[in-house]
Amino acid sequence: MNEHKTNKRKVWIQDVTLRDGNQALKKPWTKSEKESVFDALVALNVNGIEVGFPSSNRNEFESVQSLAKKAPKHITIAALSRANEKEIQTTWDAIQFAKTPRLHIVYPVSAFQIQNVLKISNEQVLEKIFNAISFARKISGKDTSLQFSGEHFGDAIENFEFTIKAFNTAIEAGATVINLPNTVERYRPFLFVDMVRRVVEKIPSHITVSVHTHNDLGMATATTVESFYAGATQLEVALNGLGERAGNTNLYETAIALHQCGEDVDLNFKKVYPTAKFISDLTKIPIGEKSPIVGEDIFSHRSGIHQDGVTKTIGQKKGAYRTFSPDFVGREDEEKISFTNQSGAKAIQHLLWEAGKKIEPDKIQILFHKAKEVSSAEENRTIEIEELLFWAEQV
Ligand code: KIV
Ligand code: ZN
Repeated sequence: MNEHKTNKRKVWIQDVTLRDGNQALKKPWTKSEKESVFDALVALNVNGIEVGFPSSNRNEFESVQSLAKKAPKHITIAALSRANEKEIQTTWDAIQFAKTPRLHIVYPVSAFQIQNVLKISNEQVLEKIFNAISFARKISGKDTSLQFSGEHFGDAIENFEFTIKAFNTAIEAGATVINLPNTVERYRPFLFVDMVRRVVEKIPSHITVSVHTHNDLGMATATTVESFYAGATQLEVALNGLGERAGNTNLYETAIALHQCGEDVDLNFKKVYPTAKFISDLTKIPIGEKSPIVGEDIFSHRSGIHQDGVTKTIGQKKGAYRTFSPDFVGREDEEKISFTNQSGAKAIQHLLWEAGKKIEPDKIQILFHKAKEVSSAEENRTIEIEELLFWAEQV
């Protein structure tokens, strides 16, 4: 089926936390830690999991093998290999026990990388890709899913036509998924997304197109989400945005953005917040208070204009200043109004109402001015409900 050209395409969430995320940790996970992350990913209901890089060390090999063995059939289990026969064989030895295995082979395609790191000709690059994928196809059988990643694809602006040759070479040799990494985010999202669109047009339509973006400039989510609309169906993402340098594309942001846009995403959204907390506890990497989706402070409203809109749309499906409700992502908190010297009279009324105190409108105004004065006089601090209740007794 022409998967990426039908009107309504399904989003395929391919998680790479256990490979790209783990390889960038100060202390990579143990076998049992990897298993607990794997279990969290299964509970989250991602479509595919890249479980590791078996050639990196013995523990990793064993961990990949045991995760492959326990994986359910409906989740595609990938493992990464560089483009040489020894590593491909090791990777297959680890991954072949999965009910739905995928061999993932990476080789650079950008002119910069070819000239400065590989130091070989374009013809040699194509030969290397062809040989590696052909070998992978030979040992894994005719039906195994084979993913080829053109490392540094996002940097291949000058040699874009060559990348098309590289991808078609991988496809001829047996690749079924072409992954387009923005290995280092150097340019604006539109340039990458346009390259994705051109790849989709130039490779056979039965091939799945995937994107894998890093967050060096903070635009990975935007790049990945827009790449979906350019024809990529598989989106490689990571829990808590873990990954090399500034990380990989954040799974929660990508999945929820696409869901908000009306796309079909299989994720168990209620597991998002508990999973983010679990990963933060496990890695000891704190979640920023203002992090989208999972930050502690993202449902707080302190400005008067916003408080007016929030109180008028409370309980409605669409809130004036809310894109989704806390419980949608499994949070137990609620939208919260608090009073600072930036706040409005609506906040006073709402806070007292929440505390079960009914009060006349003219008294609200008195309390509002009092609260503003006190906050401004005391380093713009937040006024607590106990103070408001105390003052309410006195007006
Ligand atoms: O960032 C990258 O290019 C990678 C590849 C292995 C896909 O992680
Ligand atoms: Zn990566």
